[in-house]
Amino acid sequence: MEKSRTGEFTGYRTTAQRERDQRFKDIALGVLEDSGPNWSIHALSVMKRNTIARVIYYHDLYQRCLSVPGVICEFGVHWGAGLSTLLNLRSLLEPYNHSRHIVGFDTFEGFADTHAKDGEAQAGDYSSRADFASSLAEILAYHESIAPFPEVRKHSLIQGNVVDTVPVWLEENPHASIALAIFDMDIYAPTKITLERILDRMPKGSVLVFDEFNCPFFPGETQAVQDVLGIRNLRLQRHPLQTYCAFCEL
Ligand SMILES: C[S@@+](CC[C@H](N)C(=O)[O-])C[C@H]1O[C@@H](n2cnc3c(N)ncnc32)[C@H](O)[C@@H]1O
Repeated sequence: MEKSRTGEFTGYRTTAQRERDQRFKDIALGVLEDSGPNWSIHALSVMKRNTIARVIYYHDLYQRCLSVPGVICEFGVHWGAGLSTLLNLRSLLEPYNHSRHIVGFDTFEGFADTHAKDGEAQAGDYSSRADFASSLAEILAYHESIAPFPEVRKHSLIQGNVVDTVPVWLEENPHASIALAIFDMDIYAPTKITLERILDRMPKGSVLVFDEFNCPFFPGETQAVQDVLGIRNLRLQRHPLQTYCAFCEL
């Protein structure tokens, strides 16, 4: 399995496919640059199949929590693809629900450390950019600015290791119940510790999602689920467009 410069698994690609991907990226950057004020609509021409799959996947997850009160948490934000999608889905699916706060947690420095249960994953893998948290704050503020009730702040970005930040966030938000929790940190310890901490705030019918379940490259996430909840206690389902996703209603 190939890893990128930032420690990200990049899938199985031949040299010829890598070259085609690089060429496609150059063309895509040209479209963004040259296509005028409607660049984001025109960018659909260079959106790849797996990106569209990701949007549909987040849409289907969001649908499942529409009738559950509470906030949405994404643990593992990286470049903000999922978090931005969630903000935009809120505008589309429940524009008047300004109680649906969306919270993203990340170190932005990649994996803080890894456990023996994590296979080949290494500390520092999946880092974004040193100053990326502030860029992402601007990205999210833009999405919020074109959403209903733009004056009501409906998202938070919590930077740091979840082992430290989640307990503080829970304490500072005693009102917060969690309707949808998306686990996408890939590795054992933060997944296990966060799961243990948040379960008390998740009502029956709320939705738990694991993005790397049954994943041989990230064996730690499945083991965290097993150690905290027990796999046989959960009615886990997969999403047809995602290889390693598993979700369930509590
Ligand atoms: C696969 S990426 C998340 C992808 C993201 N959900 C998306 O939609 O693109 C995994 C992220 O988990 C973060 N992460 C891993 N361990 C963490 C920890 N202990 N605390 C906070 N973030 C962590 C990494 O920094 C990385 O950005």
